Amino acid sequence: MIFGFPHRHFRRTDSTNERAKELALAGGPGGLVVTATEQTAGRGRRGSAWFAPPGVCLLYSGLLRPFDSERDRLLPLAVPLAVCEAAESIAPVRCQVKWPNDVWIDERKVAGVLVEARPEEAWAVIGVGLNVAVPQENFPAELRETATSLLPTEAEGGMPPGGAPGVRRTLQALNDALGRWVEADDETVLGAYRPRDALAGREVSWDGGEGTALEVDEQGHLVVATADGERVRLGAGEVHLAVER
Ligand code: BTN
Repeated sequence: MIFGFPHRHFRRTDSTNERAKELALAGGPGGLVVTATEQTAGRGRRGSAWFAPPGVCLLYSGLLRPFDSERDRLLPLAVPLAVCEAAESIAPVRCQVKWPNDVWIDERKVAGVLVEARPEEAWAVIGVGLNVAVPQENFPAELRETATSLLPTEAEGGMPPGGAPGVRRTLQALNDALGRWVEADDETVLGAYRPRDALAGREVSWDGGEGTALEVDEQGHLVVATADGERVRLGAGEVHLAVER
């Protein structure tokens, strides 16, 4: 599948996911991509806000159509894999995925994924926020120790009108990688996910308990072993490292 045709760029909008959903409802084609220099109401998972200073982040929403919730059940894993590949093609970094869909460099979050699906209409919007070149001191205090960027900000040589050149290169790389990963079969997705799994073997906690993360199963669930030997499969929700950095 090819992402990026058509491509609508907004200098400023509330949320690229919202724009992409509107276009999907109006019959927009699969592969359509919405980007923005700036979002005024960028959304993260679980109702959180998404922080992104103007011009230095990739704010991206791609329309996957057709979408089938059964066939595409590993989409939430395939998308961060595409982000990892795109990021690694732009900079000398190694990315990991924190289940289900945060992308990390050196244990710091560089990108987040928000997939919003409308299965009854056979489409899904794939939202990606990727910090391309955010000066570390520009992250709000609560993110400064846990967030990072793909490129060193000085490499960008200041901020030309229209945003960092790195953002455009990252956009192209993500279009390419996403096109491949949304078509990957389950075996390929799971095979590529495992070596990037940032949680495997680590102590984690979630709303209902704590344990050692083992692996991601063929349904995309996180399998955790609890202290009493039970295996719990987590389908959704937030998982924290027991010892947060
Ligand atoms: C997360 O980690 O919580 C997911 C963050 C997803 C943010 C992106 S930015 C582009 C797109 N538009 C939004 O409003 N959200 C996603």
